[in-house]
Amino acid sequence: MSEERTRLSAEESNGLGELMFLHPPETFALTAASVTALHAIAQNQNLLSGSGLDWGTGVGCLAIAACRIPSVSCVTGLEISAANVAMAQENARLNGVAEKIEFVEADSYQPTSTEHKNRMAVLHGKIDFLIANPPASEADDGFGYRRAIFRGACEFLRDGAVVFLSVSFQYGPDRVRDLCARFPQFSFGACWPLPHGCPSILHGLTCSLA
Ligand SMILES: C[S@@+](CC[C@H](N)C(=O)[O-])C[C@H]1O[C@@H](n2cnc3c(N)ncnc32)[C@H](O)[C@@H]1O
Repeated sequence: MSEERTRLSAEESNGLGELMFLHPPETFALTAASVTALHAIAQNQNLLSGSGLDWGTGVGCLAIAACRIPSVSCVTGLEISAANVAMAQENARLNGVAEKIEFVEADSYQPTSTEHKNRMAVLHGKIDFLIANPPASEADDGFGYRRAIFRGACEFLRDGAVVFLSVSFQYGPDRVRDLCARFPQFSFGACWPLPHGCPSILHGLTCSLA
């Protein structure tokens, strides 16, 4: 049976403390890309502050790690699977950040409950950073979710917001530049190579809303 928890030691988290994520069967088990994104958040924590969104939060790992950054005030994690949302809430409690975090069952940016729709509306134009480790889309070039994330994000991000977008290594930085070219509000910021052997790279983008 595969391990049903993933742990990042205090040393690995670069000052964010030990992080532990439960992912029992029927919930999203962290992948190598999830762990790479966790490292990227830990290593680039100076870029994240204020309020954030985590698109496709799974069991909440990236949102929870971001909440451990003292200058981050709150994060909203969006997730389509109710089982993942429930586990993300438990993981937030386990990691001591429940008061800074909200998990919302949603299809992309569209919450399923009216209560959450109203709460999301309040976030328009106020979000300081977006984190996303999205799935690859299957019926196209693999970037369909990333385009949907960018399209929907503009409504929520403030001018100058930062985006951490996880992109598998094989796609390469040129694909990210192409993505930004389709969305002129986003400028390609940097590509952060991560520890040797990691299968993903995380790209930092900044958003300048006209
Ligand atoms: C690659 S996983 C990443 C999960 C987590 N962020 C991590 O890094 O471990 C992508 C997540 O997006 C969720 N997802 C897929 N389609 C979605 C949609 N339309 N709206 C919201 N979440 C979605 C999946 O259920 C899954 O948990």
